[in-house]
Amino acid sequence: MIQYIMKGGNPLVGDVSIGGAKNAALGILAAAIMTDEPVTIGNLPNVRDTNVMLDAIKGIGGIVERINEHSVRIIGRTINTVSVQYESIRRIRASYYLLGALLGKYKEALVALPGGCNIGTRPIDQHLKGFTALGGVNHIEKGAVAVRANKLRGNHIFLDVISVGATINIMLAAVLAEGRTIIENVAKEPHVVDVANMLNSMGANIKGAGTDVIRINGVERLHGTEYFIIPDQIEAGTFMMAAAVTKGDVMVRNVIPKHLEAISAKLLEMGCEVVEFDDALRVVGKPRMRHTQVKTLPYPGFPTDMQPQMAVALALAEGTSIVTESIFENRFKYVDELSRMGASIKVEGNVAVIDGIRCFNGAHVSAPDLRAGAALVIAGLAADDYTVVDDIEYIQRGYENFDLKLQSLGAMIEQVTDERGVQKFKLRVG
Ligand code: EPZ
Repeated sequence: MIQYIMKGGNPLVGDVSIGGAKNAALGILAAAIMTDEPVTIGNLPNVRDTNVMLDAIKGIGGIVERINEHSVRIIGRTINTVSVQYESIRRIRASYYLLGALLGKYKEALVALPGGCNIGTRPIDQHLKGFTALGGVNHIEKGAVAVRANKLRGNHIFLDVISVGATINIMLAAVLAEGRTIIENVAKEPHVVDVANMLNSMGANIKGAGTDVIRINGVERLHGTEYFIIPDQIEAGTFMMAAAVTKGDVMVRNVIPKHLEAISAKLLEMGCEVVEFDDALRVVGKPRMRHTQVKTLPYPGFPTDMQPQMAVALALAEGTSIVTESIFENRFKYVDELSRMGASIKVEGNVAVIDGIRCFNGAHVSAPDLRAGAALVIAGLAADDYTVVDDIEYIQRGYENFDLKLQSLGAMIEQVTDERGVQKFKLRVG
């Protein structure tokens, strides 16, 4: 089992550079197979989820050439099946983007029902509603979704819930549908806009991404492109929170500050210093943060993917804070682990009431999912003594070189594989 061992207490200080957005990358990689011409993608984060998506593309016959660690060339001309193998798909939820991409290009797709982080019931009814409106016929057989259409025709679609996945998936299918599609009540997340921009660079005609309504004029075919993915809003937010929690001073570079406004606003409310530059944010932590209230909401609201990291900061803030999770019902699973580090948190339904303490104590904890895992690492960096975080495979789904980036800011953290590694770390660090 791979684990992180860390010794808390060092304020994080220095510069960290943020990689490409994982959740944009997953949509963009799926979009890349929709043309027979080569597509080059840059600023691709080298994390487990994107690598699984690349494997899935190879699994259906697509060509994936690594240009360097963060760039790939994808050729969709050689795809020889529209059936995506269970083994790869089971491991990431966003493989459902291959449904929209294959349906758009070949009018047919069969994809195993998605897995992913265990953060609550995650239906895909809105994705299917969109495909049906475009003329697809869906059915679920043996744990897989099959969608077929004689012809895809544009339509007017109103989403019942704001869904990032459904917005991107319907957009993927609709760009190659005949006529005009209007999707209302769509997600406005930066990665939705990035996937739309990428598709437009392939010749699609999408307008309105980033607003509540997306309008698509179908085109006959898409062409090759070279596209550079936007910075990862959540990786950036995680380092901002790590700076605050460790009372550090970190320049978070290669970000789009506008995408981080909800997070910056909360840190300012809590008394931290946040200084905005063109493509960087400096976060300076304070000896004691103030309590506040946070409710997760679709963009531009406070992101659910930052809720656990924020709760860690609030657990060390003065007074009582309230965190309301309104997107996923199962996103407080880290609370038991954090309580073992001394946090005082009570969860009632989708609300967590947090009474701030002065310091966490180190403990042996497990990462229950990707963002909660990152949050426990941040807590460990602010804790007295040693903390071991198990199940860090979750963290590696979405954070590239998390330990190395934290080390470069002065954190005492290392990836180990067994008890000997833990003991060696303790001997070295003292
Ligand atoms: C995306 O998941 C992200 N994943 C998640 O990031 C993120 O937490 C989430 O958006 C919210 O921002 C990717 O982009 C790959 P949704 P997604 O569809 O698309 C309900 C991370 O940590 N819903 O926006 O699956 C759903 O249950 C991950 O990087 C339906 O009811 O989320 C939820 O309550 C984890 N029917 C809400 O909508 C549907 O058909 C929002 O989900 C679809 C969703």
